[in-house]
Amino acid sequence: MPGEERLTRRASAAAICWSTIFLGGALTAMLLLSPSELGTGQPQVAPKIPRPMWRGVNLGNALEAPYEGAWGVILREEYFRLIREVGFDTVRIPIRWSAHAEATPPYAIDERFFRRVDWAIDQALKHGLTAIINVHHYDELVADPEGHRERFLALWDQIARRYVDRPGTLLFELLNEPHNRLTAPLWNQLLAQALRVVRQTNPTRWVVIGPADWNHVRSLPTLELPKDDPYILVTFHYYEPFPFTHQGAAWVPGSMAWLGTKWEGRQEEKQAIERDLDFAVLWAQQHDRPLFLGEFGAYSRADLPSRVRWTEFVARQAEARGIPWCYWEFCSGFGIYDPRAQRWREELLRALIPLP
Ligand code: GLC
Repeated sequence: MPGEERLTRRASAAAICWSTIFLGGALTAMLLLSPSELGTGQPQVAPKIPRPMWRGVNLGNALEAPYEGAWGVILREEYFRLIREVGFDTVRIPIRWSAHAEATPPYAIDERFFRRVDWAIDQALKHGLTAIINVHHYDELVADPEGHRERFLALWDQIARRYVDRPGTLLFELLNEPHNRLTAPLWNQLLAQALRVVRQTNPTRWVVIGPADWNHVRSLPTLELPKDDPYILVTFHYYEPFPFTHQGAAWVPGSMAWLGTKWEGRQEEKQAIERDLDFAVLWAQQHDRPLFLGEFGAYSRADLPSRVRWTEFVARQAEARGIPWCYWEFCSGFGIYDPRAQRWREELLRALIPLP
């Protein structure tokens, strides 16, 4: 896991002196809850997300592991049912396509793996969940963007064709957390190319795109999107303060030293989060794009009361700003569900979805 670069990201983000932005009050929700004609007709001036997607969960550590099960998670039908039952409306399904495709042209994706993804998508849709599939952990691409450009585009061509007939409640996310050599200028070029590939077959499907530098909220200003495409949902990830959310994370070098870091919910702790979210909202307003908080969570090595406080605060603050979210993640190291006991971790679940 590329933890060192994450640290660099944090350091560089902190080094920039951000002006304080107070927006005051909740924003009008940008993703209005009306049905739309997605999947049919021409792009409209102000397209709407096909159905409410406010509260979601990432099915992490399953299909984006080197192979499903390698990181201890194998998706099960009941997970989709449980997720829907407790009130989530969305699942984000991270996928490591690059481990299941040929290394040379035509870069064909393994049919068995494709069928497994078909199954996961269809489970989500069958249970009334919006589904987001992405390209996750394409490590070779971020290490050598030029060398893997053609393969990345070929993967999207196959994925887009495969799911062309799925309803508009399936969303495509081009790439999780671009970083390393995939710098902002290169990513902006590549995302435009990938989007063109997707649009050949899926002209009005919602496509999720986030900024370089790990989809960091403060990297939003580096993101350049094709102006003529209204079906873009802009994502960012939120793990601040990083020494709190990633304490003791094996893939983050140095994070053992952070063990014991708490999040008390003091005024200055809350204001730091509010400023970051206000920053995102201001960017979204200036660029007239809807926002999506695609990942946030605190790892299980942090104390539970702090995790609950932080998770609840981030979720409510996102909601107050009209930003839909997906918690990272369902049943692994950040998990809100204990797969062995087959039980929700109630405090974390309620931090995300409060009882009425
Ligand atoms: C990113 C990584 C994932 C990691 C998570 C939290 O999504 O891709 O592997 O678990 O962030 O660090």
